[in-house]
Amino acid sequence: MANTELEFCGLKFKNPTVIASLETTNSPDLIKQCFDGGAAGAIVKTLTDIEDMARLTQNSKYFVMNDKGQVIHGKVPRDFVFYSRSGYSSTHYKEWIPYLKEGQKYAADHGAHLIGSVGAHDIDGWKDIARTIEDCGLPLAELNFGCPHPAMMPGVVGGSMIGQDPNMAADVTAAVIEAVDIPIMVKLTPDQSQPVEVARKVKEAGAAAVNATNRYTGFSIDIETGTPDIGGPAGIGGTWTKPLTLRWVHRIRQEVGIPISGSNGIFDHRDVVEFIMAGAGIVQIGSVLMIKGIKWLPKIIAGVNQFMDDHGYPDIASMQGIASDMAASDYSDQFKKSRMNAQIDHDACNNPTCTVCIQMCFYEALSQADGHVGLHPENCIGCELCYDVCPFKAISMHPTTPEQMAKGYFNIPDGVYEHDKFKTRRNNPESIGKSLLKETA
Ligand SMILES: Cc1cc2nc3c(=O)[nH]c(=O)nc-3n(C[C@H](O)[C@H](O)[C@H](O)COP(=O)(O)O)c2cc1C
Ligand code: SF4
Ligand code: SF4
Repeated sequence: MANTELEFCGLKFKNPTVIASLETTNSPDLIKQCFDGGAAGAIVKTLTDIEDMARLTQNSKYFVMNDKGQVIHGKVPRDFVFYSRSGYSSTHYKEWIPYLKEGQKYAADHGAHLIGSVGAHDIDGWKDIARTIEDCGLPLAELNFGCPHPAMMPGVVGGSMIGQDPNMAADVTAAVIEAVDIPIMVKLTPDQSQPVEVARKVKEAGAAAVNATNRYTGFSIDIETGTPDIGGPAGIGGTWTKPLTLRWVHRIRQEVGIPISGSNGIFDHRDVVEFIMAGAGIVQIGSVLMIKGIKWLPKIIAGVNQFMDDHGYPDIASMQGIASDMAASDYSDQFKKSRMNAQIDHDACNNPTCTVCIQMCFYEALSQADGHVGLHPENCIGCELCYDVCPFKAISMHPTTPEQMAKGYFNIPDGVYEHDKFKTRRNNPESIGKSLLKETA
């Protein structure tokens, strides 16, 4: 059986799954359920002294929709969109003290860690809440520079407003680090263009890790009534955000080299594995547990174990960052890759009933011949779009041999621009015209 243990911020985690700071960690009982479900860590819902952020949670709105923007009534599919608004913990951080101590003991009894989360009004608040977390025995604290909601609260500077400003993020991080001895993790916002720079600055300020990332801010509309869903802009997430987040996990791994907690877009074990292959150590799981229940967690953990066994990964280190380290660092790397070319299996092909690939080849390598798809390999650039769209798996991609090259495959003119291309290449006007007529008939 694979070993799922890992070290992160000087702590041993029995597996990579940590429950993100949100409603499922907003009470001592819920936190215990997370540990009962096998979580290696749980991050308390953000502790605060900002009254409006406590009040916002008492006015939370959750809107779980499908890919058409309609509310999902019933089983939540993998491509759910979670549009919602909630604040920080509405229990004052001082009132949490006995429960933090109790939760930390419960975590330790389960070989896990209770982690603090801070979102304060001013520097003194950031320091005091972090100190409270440390005094209660929690071994790690996260600074919430990712929450999208303070930006819509007049008079409040917090969450993503700090996370969008590398210098402010570094200053708050440095102040907290001076006030406590436990390691500090910074939660980044994706609502910006420079998370890598923020990660770099907070690393310089002494942060032990970053969490990439919190959620985006979105705006969703009911077109039947012409009204904004849940009243106006709100936080938005779901598995669709995962590739956007992985971009930052990958870049921070490559360019900053600080330990990364991956979060934003996990549904099941496949997403956990993907975050780890992008470079994350621990991962954080949030909204999926709100809409499927904490009982979903053991399935994720079991899935990771099974995946590692099935694919022969002995431990987390053998998966961590493997895809990130293989990724092309810039597009000039792509130009050096060997060429592929498309080939058609005419027995599997449904032409002339189907003409999809002909319509989708933007390089004039496919045309409508007499009762079959005509292939013009000298025009094929190996883009793979026809292979992706063929509904009958009749197209395959093959490495181009030196002999094929000699025959004129990829006969792209020397130089950057293709002169006189439009005089010779007409983008299949005849076949596309015929198929448009067919579809509109
Ligand atoms: C309803 C809701 C409440 C949240 N509250 C907090 C919070 O109090 N503190 C925080 O740091 N992040 C909060 N988050 C963000 C999550 O911790 C997590 O970073 C984000 O949802 C992305 O992970 P996911 O895709 O697994 O949900 C909240 C998210 C949701 C959906
Ligand atoms: S790989 Fe691209 S260029 Fe080649 S035939 Fe397919 S769609 Fe056309
Ligand atoms: S998309 Fe596939 S089935 Fe359709 S014409 Fe092209 S090769 Fe044939």
